Amino acid sequence: MSQYRAIRGMVDVLPDETPLWQMLEQTARDVLAAHGYAEIRTPIVENTELFARSIGEVTDIVEKEMYSFPDRNDDSLSLRPEGTASTVRAAVQHNLIQSPQRVWYMGPMFRYERPQKGRQRQFHQLGVETFGVAGPEQDAELLLMCRQWWTRLGINDELTLELNTIGSPEARASYKAALTEYLRERFDALDEDSQRRLDTNPLRILDSKSASTQAILDDAPSMTDHLDEESKAHHERLCQLLDMAGLSYSINTRLVRGLDYYNKTVFEWTTEKLGAQATVCGGGRYDMMVSQFGGRATPASGFAAGLERLVLLMQTLNLDATFDPDLYIVSSDENAFGQAMLEADRIRAEFPGLGVVQHLGGGSFKSQFKRADKSGAAWAMVFGEEEMVSGKVTLKPLRANEQQMTLSREELDTFLGQLERLTNEY
Ligand code: HAM
Repeated sequence: MSQYRAIRGMVDVLPDETPLWQMLEQTARDVLAAHGYAEIRTPIVENTELFARSIGEVTDIVEKEMYSFPDRNDDSLSLRPEGTASTVRAAVQHNLIQSPQRVWYMGPMFRYERPQKGRQRQFHQLGVETFGVAGPEQDAELLLMCRQWWTRLGINDELTLELNTIGSPEARASYKAALTEYLRERFDALDEDSQRRLDTNPLRILDSKSASTQAILDDAPSMTDHLDEESKAHHERLCQLLDMAGLSYSINTRLVRGLDYYNKTVFEWTTEKLGAQATVCGGGRYDMMVSQFGGRATPASGFAAGLERLVLLMQTLNLDATFDPDLYIVSSDENAFGQAMLEADRIRAEFPGLGVVQHLGGGSFKSQFKRADKSGAAWAMVFGEEEMVSGKVTLKPLRANEQQMTLSREELDTFLGQLERLTNEY
């Protein structure tokens, strides 16, 4: 029988990688809590229409990347390709946006894309959404919060903030018309993908990876000339706030994002370390979505970071995290094992900050010490025949250049207390 394998583009995160994931997630939780953001958890499946209407019928996501299926009642459902639409749906449904709200979510998203390094069909996002503040100070807060997260992860120097404003829907419509006219005159010189997009989603041509199309765009009309006054002022104030905070950015007037719901501010954090999948985080303002979903018109702004890409970036920089236990407990025979088990249980209750792993499955001391070493533990704690007689325990250092010690229970507790304090300092 052939072995089962994970679905293409859907990846197992194995135990040697989960410490890094957990570190990434915990750091995010800490930063979010420090800024007053609360978690929201929404279902992974929603009505297909919810995504189609908000993300846009002619986007790649809706046209060809959604996992959609009829349920037993013949309703069309989809696995969520992103979290913004679900969050807005929940916020409207539960009346959360009477007053300003700041929320976040973390979890799997699904897009039927061609898998490659940094691009999967099931991937994970940390998303943040805010409701109720129309001004650029909300956008600035989001970007400063990103910087705090990057700094705590040790990757801030690797990331560039690309910033743009795409104006009001009216400004965008006027720009779209001008851009379409310009590109139509040069239709034959465009790459195939851009030719197809000209009638459906011309702004996405600005994102084209084709060098010849990019060359044509060099002389194309610029969004800047079509911007409405309010969007211009919003953008200028945002830049001013970022300058004040010493947060550098590069203005990229071709940045349009792959989802249709944005207005005014859009941004992406990119890195040169990950090849083609360079964007680790993207977001912007989407002031129309709440009313589109039947809520009272409410300004909104947010972003989502791709956790796989952050993990890859940290691995590239050798910023790995590990979970190494503090103690690995070995014992000489059944009698000693029983004692050791009780002691391990007591230590875990009294010193909850310590990682305590007990050797299971017996074997010689030699083989047990081999496993102790492999576990990454700092100390082996030995329950042998001598220890059974004396009532003491032996601690053998496995990493640092320390002395082996035989301690009474009282001395042991003093030592474990110190070890716990040290462990928690890191
Ligand atoms: P997005 O740009 O589609 O925006 O996705 C955000 C991030 O998710 C990307 O920058 C990337 O790091 C990661 N990502 C997207 N697709 C994949 C994939 N196939 N494999 C691995 N990582 C991926 C959104 O989803 C918006 N909801 C962001 C937002 C929130 N805007 C306002 N609020």
